[in-house]
Amino acid sequence: MYLNGRFLPRSEARLDVEDRGALFADGVYEVLRAYGSRLYLADEHLARLKRSLAALHIQTTAEVDRLIEITAELLDRDARPEAQVYWQVTRGAAPRARGFPENPRPTVLVLSWPIEPLAAHEQHLAGVRAILQPDRRWGRCWIKSLMLLDNVLAAQAAAEAGADEAIYHRDGIVTEGSATNVLIAHRGRLITRPADEAILAGITRARVLELAVEAGLPVEQRPFDTGELAGADEVMLTGTSTNVAAVTHLDNRPIADGHPGPMARQLHAALIADILRYCGLA
Ligand code: PDD
Repeated sequence: MYLNGRFLPRSEARLDVEDRGALFADGVYEVLRAYGSRLYLADEHLARLKRSLAALHIQTTAEVDRLIEITAELLDRDARPEAQVYWQVTRGAAPRARGFPENPRPTVLVLSWPIEPLAAHEQHLAGVRAILQPDRRWGRCWIKSLMLLDNVLAAQAAAEAGADEAIYHRDGIVTEGSATNVLIAHRGRLITRPADEAILAGITRARVLELAVEAGLPVEQRPFDTGELAGADEVMLTGTSTNVAAVTHLDNRPIADGHPGPMARQLHAALIADILRYCGLA
């Protein structure tokens, strides 16, 4: 792993107990993936990290600017060409007081975990079960902050219901999943909520929308409610760890015939092809 300027084994990593990330969730993160030693859409992830940092008034440092190179070196040292990568930047360590400390030094952490080579699940579009959950998160969900406690509770509620993901709604209007964005297909149209302050502007979501437009699919960005979700021809999730998944059941009731549909298949295949191309594997 990498922590504050050093590559080191996890057993040697020391994080200050007064790090504001631990005390206040005062920090931001990104999750991205490497395939064949190439970080997919790394510039987009770094740009979003910087937007999140700016929103919290955490200074972008030279170390943050070098995160892509640092990560490439880490994956090289660990001989890990296929990886899930976690970037975390906090405001730093300081005596516990709510207001910003003077001259804090941001804590920069990079972790990675091995994942399967893409080819192994290339053919496979996951069909998943979802439950609905009221969205009780704060109003600035576009910031990818460390404050994920409501997402943790929603994901656990999904697991306890035998489901894979929780889909949030605010007063009946769908926002997003606990770790994914939500798209629906209806009568041949692809519909998703605009990336406003209430959701994370998913990198996968944005890429899938571009691929849909390139494929000539009609795309509509507008809010939709839980009734439209449950009655859609297809429901899809997008995210870095999910790529594209088809929701087959919502609260134990089938979406359409309860099987992944054609638009999910098409968009999943298009995204996988894009990843392979981008990472020089095609
Ligand atoms: N989650 N919405 C939420 C709340 C998320 O946490 C995520 C990503 C997404 C999808 O964004 P992207 O396509 O940029 O990954 C949407 C990551 C994977 C995580 O927290 O593990």
